[in-house]
Amino acid sequence: MRLSIFGSGYVGLVTGACMAEMGNHVVCIDIDEDKIARLNKGEVPIYEPGLDAYIERNAEAGRLEFTTDVQKGVDHGLFQFISVGTPPDEDGSADLKHVLAVARSIGEHMNEYRIVVDKSTVPVGTADKVKAEIQTCLDKRNKPVEFDVVSNPEFLKEGAAISDFMKPDRIIVGTDNPRTTELLRTLYEPFNRNHDRIISMDIRSAELTKYAANAMLATKISFMNELANIAERMGADIEHVRIGIGSDPRIGYQFIYPGAGYGGSCFPKDVRALAKSAANSGYSAALLDAVEDVNNRQKHRVFDKIKAHYNGNLKGKTIALWGLSFKPRTDDMREAPSRTLMGALWDAGAQVRAYDPEAMDETRRLYPDQSGLTLCNSANEALVGADALAIVTEWQEFRSPDFADLQETLADAVIFDGRNLYEPEMVEHFGLRYYAIGRGAETGVEPQNFGRRKTDR
Ligand SMILES: NC(=O)c1ccc[n+]([C@@H]2O[C@H](COP(=O)([O-])OP(=O)(O)OC[C@H]3O[C@@H](n4cnc5c(N)ncnc54)[C@H](O)[C@@H]3O)[C@@H](O)[C@H]2O)c1
Repeated sequence: MRLSIFGSGYVGLVTGACMAEMGNHVVCIDIDEDKIARLNKGEVPIYEPGLDAYIERNAEAGRLEFTTDVQKGVDHGLFQFISVGTPPDEDGSADLKHVLAVARSIGEHMNEYRIVVDKSTVPVGTADKVKAEIQTCLDKRNKPVEFDVVSNPEFLKEGAAISDFMKPDRIIVGTDNPRTTELLRTLYEPFNRNHDRIISMDIRSAELTKYAANAMLATKISFMNELANIAERMGADIEHVRIGIGSDPRIGYQFIYPGAGYGGSCFPKDVRALAKSAANSGYSAALLDAVEDVNNRQKHRVFDKIKAHYNGNLKGKTIALWGLSFKPRTDDMREAPSRTLMGALWDAGAQVRAYDPEAMDETRRLYPDQSGLTLCNSANEALVGADALAIVTEWQEFRSPDFADLQETLADAVIFDGRNLYEPEMVEHFGLRYYAIGRGAETGVEPQNFGRRKTDR
């Protein structure tokens, strides 16, 4: 089948590469000329495990092309995917300017029947707006061409995007006629062989399903963070509580990890946008507002612990920071807790020595001339000359460090762990002071008297 995909970001590139992998002929269109030039040179502008191999293989086979030429894109595909960003507007609602710009591009260049497939995360009612935009352009051109608009939200997770797309849990198809449902079913047939994963529904319900899924996941995280903060004050250990409640199959173990707050390009903006849509329709979404509020506070927790440890005086302190991306296996730093932490540390007069396995280029791009930031080539290099270590992303390589070495290298022998990676007893055994999330007294876990503490010297 022939597909055109507008927007060559995380969703567009993964969709394009996976669709091409199944033998379809895909043209990816983007307005970012630099991005398209890089893709045409064989460079992949984002880090997503396995994506480069898929792109290389399918581009070489001639099934995957990249262009800025809108006419070529609209002429090519029976399916016209919209995979552009829907960033938050100033008031928190989803900004549809990119989605509607693509709708206009399609309406201005379309000469025969097209199915417009909305993969971007968009508020309920957007398909109607896309339809109206295309129709207006066709009317202006006096071109009576038929088209359909379908909602097909994407559920891939950055870091596991290829496997999520190739083996989806579900394929949501929101349509207003059986013809497009059948065409979408045919398109997704190769991803649907093991058992039927297609769930078809009306367009508005499909649009809301995506927000509902992200809001539910964000709620689970904020719930656990709220509990972690309560546990700290009560002298309980949230990790025991987590295991205790996860054993209930109605709750389950997934997505109940306390931490430094959720970030990324989806949860924060989608929770906000859903609350805003609700407010616009006359409903005050108290739970969603609380989920966001708890998360915003949680993103400051690691800093609060650092500040409390140093009695409010961070001037001249150097903090090694492990992890910059908003989660492991991606280089995406949109709304990452690392950014909140670094900003607060700089404001307090501290220096940061940062390391991330994949997000160094992105950090350089976001903070080109940031004083107080030293980018390091390895986790160990970040520790050199640092007083303390903070961890905000649970990359695998941070899970089992040499604690004796940490105790030796960190001037104040203290770790602030925003992801609960270690067993407190183990860390304390090496004479390190250990602050985690929701594990013990509010100010952190007091070390046992094994080993020497540098602060005691
Ligand atoms: N990133 C994720 O994990 C994820 C998962 C599911 C859904 N989504 C949703 O998918 C959408 C895209 O997200 P993303 O992370 O891929 O965004 P992104 O910012 O990585 O990529 C968007 C791309 O669209 C391009 N673009 C903007 N206007 C354009 C236009 N008029 N024509 C062609 N290209 C244009 C941009 O240049 C950019 O390359 C969003 O609505 C997001 O909420 C994202």
